[in-house]
Amino acid sequence: MKKINIDASLLPYNTFGMDVKAAVLAEYDTVNDLREILNDPMIAGLMQAEKEKGRLPFWHIGSGSNLLFQGDYPGVVLHCLAKGIHIVQKNDVSSAKNDEICLLEVEAGTLWDDVCAYCAEHGLYGPENLSLIPGEMGAAAVQNIGAYGVEISDLIDEVICWDVEEGKEHRFGGEEMGYGYRESRLKHAADKARYIVTSVVLKVQKARKLRLEYAGIKRALGIENIGETDLATSDKPTLQEVREAVIRIREGKLPDPKKIGNAGSFFKNPVVENSVFDALIAQYPDMPHYVVDQNHTKIPAGWMIEQCGWKGKDLGRAGVYEKQSLVLVNRGGAKPEEIVMLCKKIVEDVEEKFGIHIEPEVNMI
Ligand code: EPU
Repeated sequence: MKKINIDASLLPYNTFGMDVKAAVLAEYDTVNDLREILNDPMIAGLMQAEKEKGRLPFWHIGSGSNLLFQGDYPGVVLHCLAKGIHIVQKNDVSSAKNDEICLLEVEAGTLWDDVCAYCAEHGLYGPENLSLIPGEMGAAAVQNIGAYGVEISDLIDEVICWDVEEGKEHRFGGEEMGYGYRESRLKHAADKARYIVTSVVLKVQKARKLRLEYAGIKRALGIENIGETDLATSDKPTLQEVREAVIRIREGKLPDPKKIGNAGSFFKNPVVENSVFDALIAQYPDMPHYVVDQNHTKIPAGWMIEQCGWKGKDLGRAGVYEKQSLVLVNRGGAKPEEIVMLCKKIVEDVEEKFGIHIEPEVNMI
């Protein structure tokens, strides 16, 4: 099944609630439908024209939960409608390993939280800390979504793509994806213009293996005082309890896009050299931080934005969420340029106060 809409409203396709249009919005179910779309003369012509202007030939969206359209999109927006979770077996997985891990092939249009719910119901460990992150499977694998000590790259066995240039399937092993903090090869123009994710093979654990080091999760579960060894030998908390705790934390801190337009964390947390960090911590002893490696430390952008006095403040109809400064919100009817202006002011203020340049995490298109 495929749906092609000309001059299509993107309002239902972006959680920021931007009332913008795409020259073409093409949605598809199967790889065959995708091929037909890419071969359609009108669409192929528009993609070629965009390329000649030095732009990407198309923009593929998931559920539009991590992007900001800065105006009408003059090219082709693609969206995958295929949903499904299938258990797969592989010949190269030894039987011993087979007892421990389960491979799931998830179609690109599947809601990520449906995958988390499926795994929690079927006793499959791995995705629970990533519960309730908005978005679809394909986008989650491109963005390398992460929360509470886990990144989706930890769970990815293969990313299966349609290679637009060669006209055939291409499979990237997880280690070939160039994963880093909110980073992958498919975020960069050369590969973004060439590969479309059609499904993702996830590697989840059958054996009990929880990641509870994030203090907020322990607090939400009321297990702050239970030692690691006791937790390891106990059957509590259960997988479902961890999923529910993560959902409670997220619901408490992050605005529901159905009620208030937003795209989750607007900025990335900057990673700085330790020389920069040492000078800052001397000045701000309470500054939260995470060790990245021997030479680098990550500083929460949300904390810096709050220190700049932006928490809960508005600029026009764009605002900074009152419970989490990393999230910019649409207070109602905000135009893209209002969000962009707020972003610019925050970046300037953080730079002036802390000498650190923060960068958007959302895709600004
Ligand atoms: N903080 C403040 N003020 C704020 C916001 C945060 O002081 O307004 C402080 C917190 O008290 C805490 C630290 O900053 O000490 C970090 O805050 P939090 O745990 O809420 O996480 P974050 O760094 O703001 C990141 C991810 C989130 C993810 C959480 C939990 C990024 C860009 N964001 O946020 O991901 O849910 O950690 O793991 O890495 C997203 O990507 O859309 C997203 C929500």
